[in-house]
Amino acid sequence: MHHRWLLLLACFWVLFMLMVASKFITLTMKSPEGYGVRQGSQTILPEVEKITVTEGKKLQIESQPSAEPQKSMSHLDLIHKERLELLQTVCRNGSLGNLSHAIISKFVLDRIFVSDKHKILFCQTPKVGNTQWKKVLIVLNGAFSSIEDIPENIVHDHDKNGLPRLSSYSISDVHKRLNSYFKFFIVRDPFERLISAYKDKFVHNPRFEPWYKHNIAPVIIRKYRKDRSETKGGLQFQDFVRYLGDPNHKFLDLQFGDHIIHWITYVELCAPCEINYNVIGHHETLEEDAPYILKKAGIDRLVSYPPIPPGITHYNKTKVEQYFSKVSKRDIRRLYERYEGDFKLFGYKEPTFLF
Ligand SMILES: *[C@@H]1O[C@H](CO)[C@@H](O)[C@H](O)[C@H]1NC(C)=O
Ligand SMILES: *[C@@H]1O[C@H](CO)[C@@H](O)[C@H](O)[C@H]1NC(C)=O
Ligand SMILES: *[C@@H]1O[C@H](CO)[C@@H](O)[C@H](O)[C@H]1NC(C)=O
Repeated sequence: MHHRWLLLLACFWVLFMLMVASKFITLTMKSPEGYGVRQGSQTILPEVEKITVTEGKKLQIESQPSAEPQKSMSHLDLIHKERLELLQTVCRNGSLGNLSHAIISKFVLDRIFVSDKHKILFCQTPKVGNTQWKKVLIVLNGAFSSIEDIPENIVHDHDKNGLPRLSSYSISDVHKRLNSYFKFFIVRDPFERLISAYKDKFVHNPRFEPWYKHNIAPVIIRKYRKDRSETKGGLQFQDFVRYLGDPNHKFLDLQFGDHIIHWITYVELCAPCEINYNVIGHHETLEEDAPYILKKAGIDRLVSYPPIPPGITHYNKTKVEQYFSKVSKRDIRRLYERYEGDFKLFGYKEPTFLF
């Protein structure tokens, strides 16, 4: 009788251990993209299915905002840990060219915004939903009481919005903050970001930013347009790509000043190999990364990220193919060479379908 109970107990023990082990194995399965891993049993999903999963997940979060299950949090911890490990590995890989800054320059410190009240540093990477994050920090710093109260023209006016740049501090204060504050920034697929920058600055005519069309575009066209007889129609995506992929692009960059922040690499903007960022959000998974960042920064009870319009965060391969269909293979390769670090550091797949 006694033996039978022992045997039963042993069976349960084995079963229990098996369950624990199987959970552990699915959770640690690595995706080649670094962020393709989803909940529990679902692992690596093809492009199309990934979209529906993200949508389903977002709906779930929206319908029950307070009930973040514990498992999902530790799962996100794992994804973010893997992102940071990948970053460190790639940073150390010498064969990827110049990913390191000799020192953290004033240019980089200008990109980083500070909340001393909540000990947060945020590096701005334009074209990746940064305006919303700036609004979150402006509210946290106390200049305005809610995101809706912030006038659009104040968001980027750093004399009035109470959101200082890290460059405005003394060197020792900069180091103190870099060593102890919560630090984050957001990335997205590097080529999609360039398309977004091109559309935003050169195609739609931005009312408040005429210099892109009137000052920058003509200079790029003059130097990089292949068919000189074609003079009308403004800057073409092909011209833009040829400028970006030119190893001597720095020559024009100097003329364009800080406007280049919309298309230079994440490496140049945020020095991710020098600064130990705590979290790197991905635009493609912003629905889960935004609440995760707020939670890790300890501000999730104080402020929430503005609603994300459905569909805008998804990687759109069709769009990328469409834009690059007019660009020569050679120019695409040169462009990729410049942005290879950004692809590799953040786990974005090489867009082989373009080559
Ligand atoms: C370093 O990068 C190169 C080029 O992407 C790659 O072929 C190589 O495997 C990498 N080495 C390590 C140790 O990751
Ligand atoms: C790498 O970048 C640093 C700082 O930006 C610069 O001083 C150095 O000359 C660069 N090295 C190469 C090989 O481009
Ligand atoms: C992807 O981009 C194409 C071309 O720009 C557009 O027609 C399509 O609606 C986009 N798809 C999604 C899901 O946004």
